[in-house]
Amino acid sequence: MIRIENSAAQGPNPFRNTAFRFRSACQAKGKWQLRPAGDRTWTVKPGAHFAALKQVKALYGMPLQVLFACLAMLTGSVCAQSGEKIAKAGNAAGAPACVTCHGPSGQGQSTTGFPRLAGMNAGYLVRQLQNFQDGARVNPIMGPVAKLLSAADRQALATYYAGLPAIDAAVSPAATATTVASGETFAQNGNWSKGLPACAQCHGTKGLGVGATFPKIAGQSSLYLSNQLLAWQAGTRKNDPMGLMHGIALKLSASDVSAVAAYYATLSSVADKPRSANP
Ligand code: HEC
Ligand code: HEC
Repeated sequence: MIRIENSAAQGPNPFRNTAFRFRSACQAKGKWQLRPAGDRTWTVKPGAHFAALKQVKALYGMPLQVLFACLAMLTGSVCAQSGEKIAKAGNAAGAPACVTCHGPSGQGQSTTGFPRLAGMNAGYLVRQLQNFQDGARVNPIMGPVAKLLSAADRQALATYYAGLPAIDAAVSPAATATTVASGETFAQNGNWSKGLPACAQCHGTKGLGVGATFPKIAGQSSLYLSNQLLAWQAGTRKNDPMGLMHGIALKLSASDVSAVAAYYATLSSVADKPRSANP
């Protein structure tokens, strides 16, 4: 419940006078009710009450939508929700819980290509969420989710997931040893006849990533990894700095894509630890 106090005596419009204070115990879910409670206090509660909103319209002569937008803004700033809370239960704007797709530990789902988020770099994650929102990275599943996140939500979620222990996605489907071996040669040496640098040059010798720019790709599922390479080829992902990955992806054949994806999926996402076998 949030209480909005209008300190300007007789001030007719609580949203035009800046001098209000908020006290919140944020339970931002669903729609909002605004109920005049005495001269100076309005109480905002979860729960849709159209009649109450109409009454407010009559009182202050503000269009309903504007009022709604104001409330969303006000409650948004008051209720900076923790990343963990949004991850587990979604946010007030209707973003679903991240755990339903990315797993309770942020480990991802190999069979669906939902990526592991746990232990990824926070700066990288924030940028991806922005890019899903601004369309530089197009995905029909993740795009609509990202559009429901505020800048504060994105930061909170990225910090939360970056703080979770890195975890390997399950290996699925099992690749043949030959495919993995050819992926390894490619990843470590590149292919100079095609003008392709080694993946390891940017992503690190073990695919553990470098800072916010070069993401960790070790221990991510092969389906997710190959989806990304294909997305760059198709031009639906075009958010990489200086088009580095786009240029590389364009030169990869279908078998290169599956080989490198299979190889990185067999590596551990935790430095100096053997690969775990998560379910
Ligand atoms: C309905 C399923 C679904 C839900 C719910 C969902 N995601 Fe995703 N997410 C995906 C899919 C699918 C992808 C991969 C998209 C692609 O292939 O480009 C993805 C990708 C991502 C990525 C990019 C990871 C990387 O390595 O580049 C981030 C970050 C992310 N999601 C964060 C979140 C957060 C935070 C939430 C909760 C607010 C969330 N997702 C909720 C399905 C979902
Ligand atoms: C010149 C540097 C460079 C090289 C070489 C390179 N990458 Fe990347 N890669 C990047 C950058 C930068 C990003 C982050 C793009 C972004 O910010 O969206 C990236 C992102 C990725 C991602 C997406 C990870 C995620 O979580 O969504 C995959 C997969 C990937 N690279 C695979 C490869 C593979 C496989 C190779 C070798 C064939 C390779 N990269 C070579 C720079 C490089």
